[in-house]
Amino acid sequence: MKVAAIVGSIRKESYNLKLARYIQNRYQHLFQLDVLNIRDLPFYDQDIESAPPQSVIDFKAKVAAADAVLWVTPEYNSTIPGVMANAIDWLSRVDRVMNGKPSWIVGSSMGLLGSVKAQGHLRDILFSSGISSPLLPGNEVYIGLVHEKLNEKGELTDEPTIKFLDLVAENFVTWMKEQSRLKQLQS
Ligand code: FNR
Repeated sequence: MKVAAIVGSIRKESYNLKLARYIQNRYQHLFQLDVLNIRDLPFYDQDIESAPPQSVIDFKAKVAAADAVLWVTPEYNSTIPGVMANAIDWLSRVDRVMNGKPSWIVGSSMGLLGSVKAQGHLRDILFSSGISSPLLPGNEVYIGLVHEKLNEKGELTDEPTIKFLDLVAENFVTWMKEQSRLKQLQS
């Protein structure tokens, strides 16, 4: 199974990027995770949406090729960062490669609440908008105080968090199998 990861932080030492890399490594026996580049996407602009730059073409092609998208979000001012909203805007237009594609959301922040508000907004955007992405139900992953839970190698060190993430990763795979069975029945 191929999963594309969209990380809502473009800074080099991003905790959420580290979390995406940790998931990529730890669950490689379950799925192949491709962490996508959103740094090079220009601001969404309707004037160029039909003939966008190569960075947009490549980004959309990778999402189109994936069986699902993993959204790894920080929280900026109680919502998702602008870079993530920008990526969603590109995905939602012209060939609409995100429409109907399953999503799994995780996130972390240095505060206690672990991006809970941002994830709430993201669920709403992905599910309720025209994108209509089926979301992994339940299994909500809010990693608060993330700076105390990742070591210098970018590995999670907090045992309860690791155990919970292991369970959610398994649940995600089971749910994805159900999604593809459903798709087969509908076709
Ligand atoms: C933040 N941060 C933050 N944290 C939070 O829990 N709720 C919030 O609303 C915000 N708002 C916010 C706005 C802006 C502009 C910045 C730069 C930061 C703190 C945030 O959780 C922390 O910087 C994380 O480390 C950001 O994620 P990455 O870049 O480490 O992945």
